[in-house]
Amino acid sequence: MNSSADFSAAIKTHGLRKVYKSQGGANIEALKGLDIEVPRGSFFGLLGPNGAGKSTFINILAGLVNRTSGQAAICGYDSIRHMRSARLSIGIVPQELVLDPFFTAREALEVQAGYYGVGRKQRRTEEILDAVGLLDQADAYARSLSGGMRRRLMVAKSLVHSPEVVVLDEPTAGVDVELRQQLWSYLRELNKSGTTIVLTTHYLEEAEELCDRIAIINHGELIACDKKHALLAPLDNKELKVIFDQDLLSIPDSLSAWDCDLRAPRELIVRYQRGKTNVVKVFESLKETGLSINDITTKESDLEDVFLHLTSVRGNNKVGIK
Ligand SMILES: Nc1ncnc2c1ncn2[C@@H]1O[C@H](COP(=O)(O)OP(=O)(O)OP(=O)(O)O)[C@@H](O)[C@H]1O
Ligand SMILES: [Mg+2]
Repeated sequence: MNSSADFSAAIKTHGLRKVYKSQGGANIEALKGLDIEVPRGSFFGLLGPNGAGKSTFINILAGLVNRTSGQAAICGYDSIRHMRSARLSIGIVPQELVLDPFFTAREALEVQAGYYGVGRKQRRTEEILDAVGLLDQADAYARSLSGGMRRRLMVAKSLVHSPEVVVLDEPTAGVDVELRQQLWSYLRELNKSGTTIVLTTHYLEEAEELCDRIAIINHGELIACDKKHALLAPLDNKELKVIFDQDLLSIPDSLSAWDCDLRAPRELIVRYQRGKTNVVKVFESLKETGLSINDITTKESDLEDVFLHLTSVRGNNKVGIK
């Protein structure tokens, strides 16, 4: 940032603000003074609903959007004053697919490497194409690639200069399940080898699976930022909805150990904590009732529950934010 630059953080912003002008001339405050710190080496999930400001944040880091005020530094380099060093430290996969349709996948990577001044001997074109599962398409024009392949080519492009920090804005949108797993395992490997990874996602499952830290932004403000386990622990509760094939007059004795709720004559809700209880124990108690069961469904916490929990239950207490 300046003489007091913090080189221990991969990304650090202070009071980062962005005001867009709408077509009608109104001000849209997309970021309202964001203070975020992404520690080096972390796998950081940035979550938030549509319009929360995630892409604005990323595009400021990428130099694609000008900040209105505040500071943003990448590996200690201010994104404006030390633009060159900042840019070399970061690889960005934007949310929008922007590819030159007349380049092949290989050419796209070579051109990108040239742009970053990576010498021919240092280039890792084939290795990167292989890692993202595009080696077979190396000589195919970008215009002939499927949507999921194009997104993977965008990921490949962000890696050509071996950046210390890789930021991916919804990398798995439109990518099928198998390739999503492949991409996840590659990102994990990159992270293990020391690269800081930041990704935005709408899938809580994705953040849960990959990230060690999670930040949640809403309406341009940080509402939570903590280690994953601390943030998601309150959401450990699970619900089983059990439909019996006969009316119940009361909750069966064998279920007295559980937090139950008879919602309708045949519909019982059983709540338990995933981290403490094995679901098999719940099933055993259900079997002991001796009643026939028509259906069982489960409800997992999802991103919406996280928001509800953070915004309503904790009120204005911002989780993990000093
Ligand atoms: N170029 C722009 N001009 C005007 N307003 C913009 C522009 N880009 C974004 N916005 C507005 O800024 C706010 C934040 O948008 P942003 O794209 O950063 O959200 P996001 O969290 O990435 O959402 P999503 O999950 O849908 O990708 C929104 O209200 C959006 O309409
Ligand atoms: Mg976005």
